[in-house]
Amino acid sequence: MADKQTSSIHGEWSSRWAFILAATGSAVGLGNIWKFPYITGENGGGAFVLVYLVCIAVIGIPIMMAEVMLGRRGRSTPINTMKRLAMEAGQSKLWSFLGWSGMIAGFLILSYYSVIAGWSLAYIFKSASGEFTGSSAETISTLFGDFLAQPFEISLWHSVFMLITMVVVARGVRHGLEKAVRFLMPALFVLLLIMVGYAMNSGAFSDGLRFLFSPDFSKITGPGILVAMGHAFFTLSLGMGAIMIYGSYLPQNTSIAQTTFWIAGADTVVALLAGMAIFPIVFANGLEPGSGPGLIFVTLPIAFGQMPGGLFFGTLFFILLLFAAWSSAISLIEPAVTWLVENRNMQRFKACVYAGLATWLLGMGTVLSFNQWAEIKIFGKTFFDNLDFLTSNIMLPLGGLCIAIFAGWLLPRLMSADELAMKSDSQYELWRFLVRYITPIGVAIVFLKAVGFI
Ligand code: PHE
Repeated sequence: MADKQTSSIHGEWSSRWAFILAATGSAVGLGNIWKFPYITGENGGGAFVLVYLVCIAVIGIPIMMAEVMLGRRGRSTPINTMKRLAMEAGQSKLWSFLGWSGMIAGFLILSYYSVIAGWSLAYIFKSASGEFTGSSAETISTLFGDFLAQPFEISLWHSVFMLITMVVVARGVRHGLEKAVRFLMPALFVLLLIMVGYAMNSGAFSDGLRFLFSPDFSKITGPGILVAMGHAFFTLSLGMGAIMIYGSYLPQNTSIAQTTFWIAGADTVVALLAGMAIFPIVFANGLEPGSGPGLIFVTLPIAFGQMPGGLFFGTLFFILLLFAAWSSAISLIEPAVTWLVENRNMQRFKACVYAGLATWLLGMGTVLSFNQWAEIKIFGKTFFDNLDFLTSNIMLPLGGLCIAIFAGWLLPRLMSADELAMKSDSQYELWRFLVRYITPIGVAIVFLKAVGFI
């Protein structure tokens, strides 16, 4: 066995908490607050939420542990980590393809993620200028529709977001990331609680809760199950190397299982709170739960327009959403940048310029798919929908499947047991059982069901 490397050349987190914060920063983002509510709305509510929760528990958590473990063992970029571990385990170097596909998935996701984050950025200013105050639901919907209709403004916000993301990435993980997440995550959490408090008094709280938590299985379809599973990967940042690379900066003596529970738990709570804040407003104002990606940009401003102190809370909310998106965006591009540094011998700054420009350019496709290209459809979907489908529902679950197979079947037991260092043997056995059997079979069943095979 080659000597075990105990730290990464790119730096290490200052403590276990720094890792938890950064990984939570990666996990909690637009996925929880923007995407979870709108896909829940599109897929009929309760049953979808239940499938999503089951996927988090039996697929997401074990794979997250596997990813952190592989990252810490390999101590490098996902591509080099996989190559190194495959060689250590006597497997083909070709396993590095996992790093490649992850890097590509991260790049594809960031291209549209940045556009939506740009919307949040724009909404900070709309909120602060009092545009929502006292406005009717209809005015606010029209406002959003008009905003989407003009590519110039959206592309400007998308450019600003890409720029601020690359600035943090260029400064390196320890300087940029750790500091930003420490205060913002708790603040976002508190603000969500305030929003839920408002929703409780808005009159339709029980309708909202019923929609979210009482499962009606006739509403869920095979493709809906795939969306729920895909979202479990997306929301936990799994299957593309982001968590693997963060794991590579994790100090050696930290418990992987415990930290994983923290991160997955926080991520899930944030998503459920977002749902509990949004759906009561949807029902109280007669809006359509399945109205798509604009859902939070229409519902929340209605609430801010009506609640006392709405100008302040609304502005603060979009600021915090921006930060949540920012800390996720950083982790989407980190694998590509580190790879350019390691394998192309680039300066970190130059690597950021290249990666950032390419992502920005691809993002223009998403900008246009909400206006000029809205009618251009491939497989019945716009450019944005296709990108989202390809990454969340295909690339991430496939990446996760390969991670599970590698960690469960190919990596020698001794290595995973040593790296995970679980408190008891039975915990380790449970993890191993889940990654060897439940995760791969679960992913396979969902894929087959989505294409109508079973
Ligand atoms: N988990 C992030 C979110 O929910 C998105 C993300 C996906 C980040 C994959 C990194 C990797 O917004």
